[in-house]
Amino acid sequence: MNLTDKIEKLKKEKKAVVLAHNYQRPEVQDIADYVGDSIELSRKAMLEKDAEIIVFAAVDFMAESAAVLNPAKKVLLPSLGARCPMAQMLTADEIKRLKAQHPDAPVVLYVNTLASSKALCDICCTSANAVEVVNSLDADTVLFGPDRNLSEYVAEKTGKKLIPIPEWGFCPTHLLFQPEDVTILKQQHPDAVVMVHPECSKEMRRTADFVGSTSKMCRYARETPAKTIIVGTEEGLLHRLRKENLDKQFIIAYKDAVCPNMKLTTLDRVYASLKEEKHVVKVPEATAEKARIALERMFQVKS
Ligand code: 13P
Ligand code: SF4
Repeated sequence: MNLTDKIEKLKKEKKAVVLAHNYQRPEVQDIADYVGDSIELSRKAMLEKDAEIIVFAAVDFMAESAAVLNPAKKVLLPSLGARCPMAQMLTADEIKRLKAQHPDAPVVLYVNTLASSKALCDICCTSANAVEVVNSLDADTVLFGPDRNLSEYVAEKTGKKLIPIPEWGFCPTHLLFQPEDVTILKQQHPDAVVMVHPECSKEMRRTADFVGSTSKMCRYARETPAKTIIVGTEEGLLHRLRKENLDKQFIIAYKDAVCPNMKLTTLDRVYASLKEEKHVVKVPEATAEKARIALERMFQVKS
């Protein structure tokens, strides 16, 4: 039996589902029951009824959100090392300090944060709904973190004052993209359109015909009449884009745009995780209760 068949067998025996982020390795995406962006995966995990185990093929903060939103399930993270560096950039202590400095400003946190930070915010957002979340607040000044680029993008779209917390938060993978590469690619493919993730720099966003979350990019790619699409996000998304659009050409705007954390999840590790039921993601209930409120508020905002 090959590894894929072994995983399928274990999934049935143990009543498990595999949820995979759009940046996962092609072979991991292909054995997943569902592939999506961070909000879609959170919603799936929250609404999962039948499965007893959720294998979360992604990074730490996404698996934590699943554990917070559906505490009755056993949530497994195949690789313990799969940690998003951006989520480590904003600590609970830093949030407390900044809240004390701006007591009237609500705190909006990107889901790319640890549960202990989410527990201190008013509402969460993802890159798919950040603009709508900030617009839903009755406040003109908002503390927003940890991604500074997303914060600037949301400020442009909403006209509100967003105070980035910390001042310098970033995604190392999305900072690899540079507008000069897009200029060269556009010269080679004059009919191409450009889509980028809002974690890219302002200069990269300026080159784009479309800015959005990974799944919103998938929708844009399906709907655009353009046949060639330059992509400014982690290279894993191209597997799904190519599978869903056989008649279109996708070109990554920078070929080494890899999130090493996402890539720590291999098929072998998914199998081992399911077989040995490791590594179980646990969030202390006092923290989970508060983080859940912030996440549930996000789901109430229409986007
Ligand atoms: P999405 O919400 O667009 O899937 O993005 C998550 C992420 O980690 C981007 O780097
Ligand atoms: Fe974190 Fe960036 Fe990787 Fe997304 S791509 S998980 S923000 S390091």
